[in-house]
Amino acid sequence: MPALRILMVAAEMAPFAQEGGLGDSVLGLSQALSRIGHDVRVVLPGYSSIDASRHSLRHCLSMDVPMGILGSLPCGVLQGRAPGSGVTVYFVRYDPYYARSGLYGHGGDGYPDNDRRFVLLCRAALELTGALGLEPDVVHVHDWHAAAVPVFLDTLYRKDAASRNPASLLTIHNMQQQGVFDKGLMDVLDIGWEHFHFRDLEFFDRVNLLKGGIYHATLLNTVSPSYAAEIRQREFAHGIEGAIRDREADLSGILNGADYAEWNPETDPRIAANYSERDRAGKGLCKRDLQRTLGLPETGPGVPLLGVVSRLVGQKGIDLIAGAAHRIFGLDAQLVVLGAGEPWAETFFRTLARDHPDRFACRIGYDGTLAHKVMAGSDFFVMPSRFEPCGLTQMYAMRYGTPPVARATGGLADTVEDFDETTRTGTGFLFDGATERALLDALGRATRAFRGRPDAMDALIRNAMARRFTWASAAERYEGLYAEAGRRRENEGR
Ligand code: ADP
Ligand code: GLC
Repeated sequence: MPALRILMVAAEMAPFAQEGGLGDSVLGLSQALSRIGHDVRVVLPGYSSIDASRHSLRHCLSMDVPMGILGSLPCGVLQGRAPGSGVTVYFVRYDPYYARSGLYGHGGDGYPDNDRRFVLLCRAALELTGALGLEPDVVHVHDWHAAAVPVFLDTLYRKDAASRNPASLLTIHNMQQQGVFDKGLMDVLDIGWEHFHFRDLEFFDRVNLLKGGIYHATLLNTVSPSYAAEIRQREFAHGIEGAIRDREADLSGILNGADYAEWNPETDPRIAANYSERDRAGKGLCKRDLQRTLGLPETGPGVPLLGVVSRLVGQKGIDLIAGAAHRIFGLDAQLVVLGAGEPWAETFFRTLARDHPDRFACRIGYDGTLAHKVMAGSDFFVMPSRFEPCGLTQMYAMRYGTPPVARATGGLADTVEDFDETTRTGTGFLFDGATERALLDALGRATRAFRGRPDAMDALIRNAMARRFTWASAAERYEGLYAEAGRRRENEGR
């Protein structure tokens, strides 16, 4: 395939700014595309939390970005490089919007001007493209934060039929967050009120940026095939299933990859001892190290340690873990939780740790090193998600020989195979219902195998460690989508 010029726009990218898997995904995909010869550039907000000197960022240009009724906003652009790749990253600086303590908000609430913060990102990305003469073949945008880009490309930035318009791809990492705001945003977007329409940006008399992106992007995808099918239903589409169905012929699902340079128990410098599929002795040391780090008593060989690394939100089924916690202890297991999120959950887990110090430990907050230690030191990884567009942590857990106990939804259903003791196939334990009962049944299966059937357990761990989800194969699939989007653009002028 000829080398393409790919411009990505997103709110997160590791290691610069990240709150969840979106950041891993934007980094992993852009690196993989660059490795196979494409020219990949990424535009991110210039959050003040990004350390310009640590990442060797330099000033690239200054520009005034038109924002409709708000007038033009003076932005600076810094330029840097994603680690281990030729990916150029541009950071849009506008301190009144991006010099804040959080990426999206504070204490669980989004910033009230998130509409302007992310519309500015989108508009600035296109202004920057013009100022630098980038002429991308495809503009690939992620989630609602960047969803105004395809809307702009299809309206204000549309060139006449004789010129080349770039194709666009919108990747939906999470349908729950749609960017829904007061309709006054139409005057900031400045694309004309005719777009405040049911089959466009309008959503219950408000503006829905993700919905606008869905209608205007050349092609759409989500981050797993199962989630792409699920979001045709109301329950998973959070009210915009109609828009998804209108465009279902243009929607596909591509699984994310995992970064095995970062997540590899054979070389990981953050864990107590390295280990491999052939020699797992180090994993026992990692378990003891995790217990010591979190102040849990070291246990005999029959007590499994269950690990959770997650945003503490409804999506992840955290309430199911909370509700089942005492019965989980009744399975003679220890449980550790690393995460941050909804205030009730943070308080609940802190109290649980105080009341059951021999069974339960938690760290509330974001801690990259501890995330590695939990992956390596746990016997099972617990993930009872209500919905899961892809999920990366279960992939990491498998690589560390920590079979997931997960709900069969979205990317979890596509990446974890239920263990069958007779055939010795499978990489974890899956369950269907989003209930405490179903979670406990699956944990019961897991703990019984752990305690009573070492051969089966050994097969399960080997299967899990052998599974690979690479960015190289995801990048090949994206190449196919870019090519298809380019053809559509030429044929339909979409
Ligand atoms: P999501 O993006 O929905 O949160 P993913 O499984 O795709 O779920 O990605 C989560 C990413 O965030 C993983 O890299 C995981 O290790 C990381 N992560 C989540 N919570 C924490 C935490 N409290 N501390 C460290 N890393 C975390
Ligand atoms: C979102 C989803 C998660 C996915 C990640 C990266 O945060 O919740 O399932 O893995 O994006 O695509």
